[in-house]
Amino acid sequence: MARELPPTAGLPLRLTDLWPGHAPFAERVAEWLDVDHLQLECSGTAAMVVALRAMHRLRPQRDEVIVPAWTCPLVALAIHRAGLRLRLCDLAPDHFDMDFAQLCTLAGPRTLAIVPTHLAGRVADVNAALDVAHRVGAYVLEDAAQALGAMQNGRSVGLLGDAGFFSLAVGKGLTLFEGGLLLTRDPVLRDAFVASHRETIHPDTKMDWQRALELIGYTLAYRPSLLSLAYGRPLRKALAANDPVAAVGDDFGPDIPLHTVSTWRQAVGARALPRLPAFLASTRTQALRRVERLRRIPNITVFDDVPGAQGVWPFLLLTLPDESRRDAALKTLWTAGLGVSRLFIHALPDYGYLRDIVADTPLPNARSFAARSLTITNSPWLDDATFEAICTELERATA
Ligand SMILES: Cc1ncc(COP(=O)(O)O)c(C=O)c1O
Repeated sequence: MARELPPTAGLPLRLTDLWPGHAPFAERVAEWLDVDHLQLECSGTAAMVVALRAMHRLRPQRDEVIVPAWTCPLVALAIHRAGLRLRLCDLAPDHFDMDFAQLCTLAGPRTLAIVPTHLAGRVADVNAALDVAHRVGAYVLEDAAQALGAMQNGRSVGLLGDAGFFSLAVGKGLTLFEGGLLLTRDPVLRDAFVASHRETIHPDTKMDWQRALELIGYTLAYRPSLLSLAYGRPLRKALAANDPVAAVGDDFGPDIPLHTVSTWRQAVGARALPRLPAFLASTRTQALRRVERLRRIPNITVFDDVPGAQGVWPFLLLTLPDESRRDAALKTLWTAGLGVSRLFIHALPDYGYLRDIVADTPLPNARSFAARSLTITNSPWLDDATFEAICTELERATA
């Protein structure tokens, strides 16, 4: 079978990670990140539901959550599931951060939380969100779903704002197949998150079995020789059917599983965790070299760390000058099995299945970002020669 590279750099699991056992997973991740406490949830989305419900309980007169208009559709579903209203903030021009002027006008007495989002492992501008949020009395909830291990001035993301969450879904650095971790530096919020978990999250044996089987399947299939079955073929089929949303797995249903995480899956994560710091360090070295190479291609913007930040590198996020050149690059690269893909296909209002919960507003920068961006995997399986071939194709498409 042809080699197929994953779109992101996930830490491969080993068969020995799968032995039965118990281990304090969240405690060990907290120790590694040097944070007091992490609350384990069954997904990043579930972590967001638990956090927002807790915040709403503390500030019940506030019911709006401001998010960047170009983000994971699960964020919209989580806000809806928490019984809250979504307010979309356009992006800053050619950046994934929220436009500051628009953020200032959106925030007000009904704002419960602002959600700066650390996309692609890059550290977002949390200070701008804090500045606005604290002026109007709202919380800052950092979406660090793609940024476990990212630091700003030596401190984990998620601690810069009032609270934050990480995702442990497939393809993230560390995975339990699905999982999430919630953190806060505020003792009042911490107690509220525990209470919200108790009310919202319940054991579910069927989901435990399903996730266990999925995690075993991931352990076996997450390798270039088998990924074409689990990832490449469905991707090419969806693209052939002209369904890019399905191709990148953005086609979510309204149902958000809310259940506990089995002790066995926690033990699997705890066994893999000691390999994560070295994996993040080597993928970082690889990424920094490749960012330099991509910078030599005219007309391409590559997202790098801002001063003081040390992000993580699941993939490289780029924008091209316009949609037609981006599409020209993807025409050959997207189906080639080299780990070139797109992140979110649309700005949130443009997903048909979100129409009832997301109001359509003019979002020129978010729509432009969706139309001009692409991603290159930072998996160690992408060798230098193949990366160079991707660069040559990008040079041709942008010329
Ligand atoms: C930016 C962002 N937020 C939230 C989520 C939701 O996390 P999860 O898939 O763990 O539910 C994701 C998932 O990839 C994401 O990319």
